[in-house]
Amino acid sequence: MKNDSGEKLINDLNAMHEKALMGGGQKRIDSQHKRGKLTARERIEKLLDKDSFSEIDQFVTHESNDFGLEEQKFLGDSVVTGFGRINNRKVLIYSQNFTVLGGSLSLVASKKICKLMDLAEKNGIPIIGINDSGGARIQEGIDSLAGYAEIFKRNTLLSGVVPQITIIAGPAAGGAVYSPAITDFIFMVQGISQMYITGPDVIKSVTGEDISHEDLGGADIHSAKSGVSHFIAKTEEDCFNDVKRLLSYLPSNNYENPPKINSNFELKKDEILRKIIPEESNKPYNVLEIISRIVDTNSFFEIHQYFAKNIITGFGRINGNVIGIIANQPSEMAGMLDIDASDKAARFVRFCDAFNIPLVTLVDVPGFMPGTHQEYGGIIRHGAKLLYAYTEATVPKISVILRKAYGGAYIVMSSKGLRTDINLAWPTAEIAVMGPEGAINIISRKEISDSENPDKKKTELIDDYKEKFANPYVTASKGYLDDVIDPSETRIKIAKSLDLLSTKIQSNPRKKHGNIPL
Ligand code: HXC
Repeated sequence: MKNDSGEKLINDLNAMHEKALMGGGQKRIDSQHKRGKLTARERIEKLLDKDSFSEIDQFVTHESNDFGLEEQKFLGDSVVTGFGRINNRKVLIYSQNFTVLGGSLSLVASKKICKLMDLAEKNGIPIIGINDSGGARIQEGIDSLAGYAEIFKRNTLLSGVVPQITIIAGPAAGGAVYSPAITDFIFMVQGISQMYITGPDVIKSVTGEDISHEDLGGADIHSAKSGVSHFIAKTEEDCFNDVKRLLSYLPSNNYENPPKINSNFELKKDEILRKIIPEESNKPYNVLEIISRIVDTNSFFEIHQYFAKNIITGFGRINGNVIGIIANQPSEMAGMLDIDASDKAARFVRFCDAFNIPLVTLVDVPGFMPGTHQEYGGIIRHGAKLLYAYTEATVPKISVILRKAYGGAYIVMSSKGLRTDINLAWPTAEIAVMGPEGAINIISRKEISDSENPDKKKTELIDDYKEKFANPYVTASKGYLDDVIDPSETRIKIAKSLDLLSTKIQSNPRKKHGNIPL
């Protein structure tokens, strides 16, 4: 290659790169900014470590000639794809480019995404998708739908193999929401993210209901009401910081253990833990206070913070080791288990199990939420998911009963019978088939009504019941608890248990797959 022609070739290459970087053109880039949104490339730049991004398939263009598409070819088409690093760990990333035909998914755009997914599988690398798209490219018809099917298929096959993370940074409408829905974690940004199966116009024409895009499928709705989204952020930058933090707890694939931090964390008694639970057994308290004192300082990272607040799920570290924490929250609905709480916790337990993250469960549960709303909504099958998820999980499992553990909810919340390795309880634990009042009303109704002073009799019987069951010692005497511990030693006891279980190997009976009650 002569020097002068070599130079021309490089200039041509650079011109092609420049053209690709412009996506759908300056006007559309400006319009994206006017909507308060970053462009596909700006997003990648802000999320990945500086200069770590390598783009692939920048020269791909679509091959459609219908509806004037032959006049609208853009280098790279409607998605930017490639690989890079976050906190120096490898990730694959795609970012839909709204400036190119509204980020709509063409056949070639789907092929670009699928190429990344195949790389994710072969190399055991997490994949992040930034979605900002008008959905299936209407002009391409079936080709575009088939492209979605290829993506959904890979989302499913990659589930439990590498972490899959979705950021919704624009519209996600129609069947397009189902790729995000199969992934492990969805992030949404207030004011710019929307997800729905059918938009407001269709709803209006079918049901007459008038609703805005935001009220139908905005970040607030999906974070607090539907539970579709796990995280909500005020800005895209905040969202990217949350993604980075989440990744810091996750292994890159199902063969790896989660990243351990080597630091000198203290493992000492914490006497404040003795004082958090109120003396009156029906008084609420905030279990987050307990969690934050058990895990390494500032290491707790809550997931689904605004959905089903009666149960807490999140990652934390003890002595630098990542754990998944599930805790009933007595300050919300007394910590009862309901449909949403069961779904939330079950999915979290399964994620942790798939990615080798030990489970620590803090129990204070008065039972399942009673009522027709729950029964008609299928609390039986939803509650069964949690039972199933805990049972099938083979990662190290540790539970600490803080106060109430009644009935079926006691069993569900990581009891010994569900193959939990180490079951601990605080002296404040109350473990029984049901609470004292309800139990006495059932088993001693006649005795109370026949007595000369029914109120006095009832109080006596309740006191007897409490003495017998509302403590951890009956359960401990039968071996269903491994130890009753001083609350101040909880962190130490969990750390020692994790150390013991770090070599745990357990498997399930051979099968194609189980049939979790979905
Ligand atoms: C082709 C599309 C497109 C699409 C948007 N555009 N969506 N082109 N196919 N699906 C183009 C527009 O023509 C426009 O091009 C540019 O993208 C920007 O769109 P605007 O409408 O100007 O933007 P905005 O006002 O912000 O509205 C965004 C939007 C709206 C809400 C996403 O465009 C919209 O409703 N699009 C259709 C959404 C939809 O119903 N998609 C199909 C869903 S069904 P120009 O050249 O004018 O800039 C689906 C099935 C998946 O996805 C099935 C999987 C199994």
